Amino acid sequence: MKTFILDLIYIVSAFAFIVGIKMLGKPVSAKRGNLLAAAGMTAAIFGTIFLNESVMPTNYVWIFGALILGSAVGYVMAKKVQMTQMPQMVSFFNGMGGACAALISIVEFDHYIHHPGTGSVAHLVILLLGMIIGAVSFSGSMIAYGKLEEKIKDFRLPAQQVVNILVLLVIFGLIYAFSAGIVVNPLTIYIILGLAAAYGLLFVFPIGGADMPVVISLLNSFTGVATAFGGFLYDNKVMLFGGILVGSAGTLLTVVMCRAMNRSLANVLIGNFGGKAAASSGRAVTGTIKEISAADTAALMKYSKNVVIVPGYGLAVAQAQHVCHELELSLEAEGAQVKYAIHPVAGRMPGHMNVLLAESNVDYDKLLEMDDINPEFKTTDVVLVVGANDVVNPAAKNDPASPIYGMPILDVEDAANVIVMKRSMRAGYAGIENELFFNPKTRMLFGDAKKMMQELVNELKNA
Ligand code: TAP
Repeated sequence: MKTFILDLIYIVSAFAFIVGIKMLGKPVSAKRGNLLAAAGMTAAIFGTIFLNESVMPTNYVWIFGALILGSAVGYVMAKKVQMTQMPQMVSFFNGMGGACAALISIVEFDHYIHHPGTGSVAHLVILLLGMIIGAVSFSGSMIAYGKLEEKIKDFRLPAQQVVNILVLLVIFGLIYAFSAGIVVNPLTIYIILGLAAAYGLLFVFPIGGADMPVVISLLNSFTGVATAFGGFLYDNKVMLFGGILVGSAGTLLTVVMCRAMNRSLANVLIGNFGGKAAASSGRAVTGTIKEISAADTAALMKYSKNVVIVPGYGLAVAQAQHVCHELELSLEAEGAQVKYAIHPVAGRMPGHMNVLLAESNVDYDKLLEMDDINPEFKTTDVVLVVGANDVVNPAAKNDPASPIYGMPILDVEDAANVIVMKRSMRAGYAGIENELFFNPKTRMLFGDAKKMMQELVNELKNA
């Protein structure tokens, strides 16, 4: 009977995971989706503790001690984290998942060694693979966390790719030797563990800070795969299912982001992704730029019917999302229709702009994806580009030498007027000049996004 109820709980949990993930796809249902998936996980954990007839635990103090401690630490961290620190928190939690998967394999290995004949070679290989992937995910995520916190700097060995490949070859050679009985010393597992952790470091160290979100989603998928191996080991369907779900969702997200940024996944995998040096070429841009004051921008917007705001990384840096919403309301009070153009890789993490704008209560219906907003620029009176650069750079369309050539962009130059709000003429993430700034339709409103937005709001109120 207990087994029947447990199976039922597992089915309901799996259902909650799937529906929860689906609900994460829309800002309006994301919070409920998260809670639903968490409820499914809670049910699966408690069901496994109390209803698993094959292994009834006796060490409840350890189990509940760890549960309470982990929940308390996670709760405090999640309550305290700022929105701009979200990528590093995701990275930290992901690293903990990888560590858990590796620890499960080590514990099971002990069981395997002390009870010869209880597990097959396939069992051993799954165990070792789970340990390796979990260890890579743990050490890689910790470096990613340190980089996002700006505590760790990029570091590249002279022949980085060769070293990476050599380490991988030694790891797989040892797995083969151990499972084929060529090497029998059980301590070999710790050498494999150490090499896997070292590979995680080597893999993430050279990657530029701003590229971490892509790597995090890849490491996230690694944790999912390692967990799925754990599910195999324990013959636990919900663990297997959850691991596969995380693994496939993380892989898809990585592929989608790489495509949106026109990068190759192969480059990420061999640890050569997003090097700034590679991203400094492209055609030199000449021409004159025209500046505009906050007062003149406000006057222009006051008499506009259709305004589109393009948020970028600078909006997140300046924490200008709340005052941006205020500007939107002021413009609407003047009779304008205001929409937001959301580029898939604007900012530094997937959905970065959606999350920021949702935080300041911007109506979800006003956030338009790139493909939906692009045709509308032709009938737009003013586009206000706030701290965005690469995602509106025409070089992506017309300069084959540009490192962002091929990346789809927001066609803001189709609008009647383009106002670019940023602090200087400095380049964006890709490190290249932007000919949009020299376009006759464009005027530059120099200054910190939060400060300039506030000035625009004040000007509109006082006009
Ligand atoms: P970026 O091209 O990075 O440009 C941001 C601009 O914001 C900069 O040119 C900067 O110019 C300005 N800025 C910075 N702080 C500011 C402030 N306080 N006030 C006003 N402006 C400020 O941003 P984007 O257009 O959003 O493009 C994102 C880039 O990141 C893409 O190249 C993308 O490939 C990359 N990327 C994205 C992701 C994801 S998943 N979203 C992940 C990794 C990499 P000033 O210094 O002159 O102010």
